Amino acid sequence: MAKFEPVLFARINKPDSTSLKTYMADGGYARIKEILSMAPVDVINVVKDSGLRGRGGAGFPCGLKWTFLPKDHPGPIYLCINADESEPGTFNNRILMEKDPHQLIEGIMIACHAIKSNNAYLYLRYEYGHSYRTLDAAIKECYAAGLLGKNIKGTGFNLDIVLHRGAGAYICGEETGLIESLEGKRAWPRIKPPFPAIEGLFRKPTIVNNVETLCCVTHILYRGKEWFQSIGVPPDPNNPRDPGSYGPKLYCVSGHVNKPCCVELPLGVTARELIEEHAGGVWKGRKAKAVVPGGISMGFLSDKEFDTKLDFAGPGKVGCLGLGTAAVVVIDDQTSMVDVLFNCCRFMSHESCGQCTPCREGTAWMTKILTRIRAGQGRLEDLDLLMEVAGSMGIIPGTTICGLSDGAAWPVKNAISKFRGDFEEYINSKRATVTSAQKLMEAH
Ligand SMILES: Cc1cc2nc3c(=O)[nH]c(=O)nc-3n(C[C@H](O)[C@H](O)[C@H](O)COP(=O)(O)O)c2cc1C
Ligand code: SF4
Repeated sequence: MAKFEPVLFARINKPDSTSLKTYMADGGYARIKEILSMAPVDVINVVKDSGLRGRGGAGFPCGLKWTFLPKDHPGPIYLCINADESEPGTFNNRILMEKDPHQLIEGIMIACHAIKSNNAYLYLRYEYGHSYRTLDAAIKECYAAGLLGKNIKGTGFNLDIVLHRGAGAYICGEETGLIESLEGKRAWPRIKPPFPAIEGLFRKPTIVNNVETLCCVTHILYRGKEWFQSIGVPPDPNNPRDPGSYGPKLYCVSGHVNKPCCVELPLGVTARELIEEHAGGVWKGRKAKAVVPGGISMGFLSDKEFDTKLDFAGPGKVGCLGLGTAAVVVIDDQTSMVDVLFNCCRFMSHESCGQCTPCREGTAWMTKILTRIRAGQGRLEDLDLLMEVAGSMGIIPGTTICGLSDGAAWPVKNAISKFRGDFEEYINSKRATVTSAQKLMEAH
């Protein structure tokens, strides 16, 4: 097998990697005039045939999503670039934007041409100040060089990119929450349908794509769909619904490892390879007890599942919600899963937008139950109660508007079903400690 050659991160360590000058010296924008002269449908077909799946979390086929736009719409049609990146453990978009902004801008130009959009809104996580300044400078360079604005490179194609700093909440990353926020409102996700491709930003057809997805688009148009399909994992022949997991992927590795990192690898590496070959192993000479495969909303892998392929299908086969953002968080064997789960629930409860009762109340109650367990007042029945609450909230049971709720329920379901012994031991020993401390106090 040919040695894997990184493309998304190929330039990030070069001097002055953010400037238009060095990007062009490395071949950037070299074929943009030719690509903007292609028929939009042909660009869509290249992306569709490449098998590119969205990198923002859901893994939806990118080219297919673009075909959902109404045909012959008079416009405007919008592209929203999702750079909200708030899933815990996820920082790949930030590196792409801080280190190689023109790679993203070129992807945006290609995508806008394909979907016949002249307006792109880049919705950037508020906390990403450095990304904001880097992108702002790169966009200005493009306007000055005639790569943005009217009649780009004489092709007749017009494009404006608006850089918009986000509202500082996890829910702003949910695509319809993002759209509401861009419209100046509170980021309350919309009920779907209609999906954004039919009625999105300002009630016009809109495509929402993640930063990494659009960076992949640039390389697919330059290198071809065959190149893209030569990387990653082909469809499972036994599963007619699996479109495969093609292309390179940026995996973030953090938590209890010696060298937290973000690495570009073919889709389908395992958590074990990431920890041992790229992140310098588990810290302090310890062992890993659990691994978050793709952001906390995807749940946990137990140590027996560390050889699961981290492609779009792999985590689902061992009970996780999916690959998510491919943000791997390592938890060592001296860490209590009760504390880990408490942190997950506290985060989701804080970030729930509150529109749907099962999500608003469910996340709050799960946090309260875990708070009680941590205070030594837990009962073994609490574990079944947590499972019951988690089982009743989310798009999957059909009780909420958006997937934040599924992402709040999944860590609970996985932690309790895969680490029940840990929870029981914690409840019993903590309860015993608190009870004897209380007895001691009462005796004095
Ligand atoms: C609570 C929640 C938060 C999300 N946050 C992000 C995010 O920060 N970035 C992102 O690209 N997608 C995020 N998504 C997924 C988006 O709704 C959407 O699927 C994605 O931006 C589509 O882009 P893609 O097809 O290129 O992956 C989030 C989804 C949910 C439910
Ligand atoms: S599921 Fe939660 S975050 Fe999503 S819309 Fe409902 S209340 Fe808001």
